[in-house]
Amino acid sequence: MISIQKANTKDAAEIKRLLKESWMSAYSCIYSPEEIDIVTSIWHKIELLKKQINNPNILFLVAKENRKLIAICNVEFVAKNKSIYIQKLYVAPIYKRQGIGSKLMNKVIGTFPDATKITLEVETENHNGQAFYRKHGFKAVGKKQFQVKNVLMDCLVMEKQLA
Ligand SMILES: CC(C)(COP(=O)(O)OP(=O)(O)OC[C@H]1O[C@@H](n2cnc3c(N)ncnc32)[C@H](O)[C@@H]1OP(=O)(O)O)[C@@H](O)C(=O)NCCC(=O)NCCS
Repeated sequence: MISIQKANTKDAAEIKRLLKESWMSAYSCIYSPEEIDIVTSIWHKIELLKKQINNPNILFLVAKENRKLIAICNVEFVAKNKSIYIQKLYVAPIYKRQGIGSKLMNKVIGTFPDATKITLEVETENHNGQAFYRKHGFKAVGKKQFQVKNVLMDCLVMEKQLA
């Protein structure tokens, strides 16, 4: 049985492991293993994940099957723009295409009934991720580039109007 709940700081190490596994699986055709190491070691530091879990402006959800972590999603709600920003949405490779990403997305949207917009960045070459967001009604509205040390990441900005 799959349950969705708020993350606890005790989940941080397992979240880090799931993120690394997901990055290796989803992005190995976009980035080299060394580039994945650089980005994940900075973006997914245990201390940073714990800060996000404890941040009152961030909703950090985990999906578990029994006690096993199988997916995560964290979003920030920016009240002044009534906007939800998806920071991370990752389903463990063997659990993909079973509706878990959709469950997390629906839970996020249901948590912020006042939100008028939901937005995110997804790698330009992550066509599977984009297909998922398009299925959920998102449209590409721009481009953004991130740089972590010497790793450049080209992303699409996608958004969906909620009201
Ligand atoms: C993108 C991701 C979160 C989707 O989660 P998921 O649980 O696998 O997706 P769902 O089962 O809820 O899919 C819902 C619908 O989205 C679309 N979709 C999802 N994955 C897809 C894929 N790989 N190719 C094409 N369409 C896809 C389909 O229409 C799917 O419905 P269907 O299975 O009935 O055809 C997950 O695949 C993942 O973690 N990917 C790696 C990381 C990533 O890309 N994250 C998002 C960018 S930040």
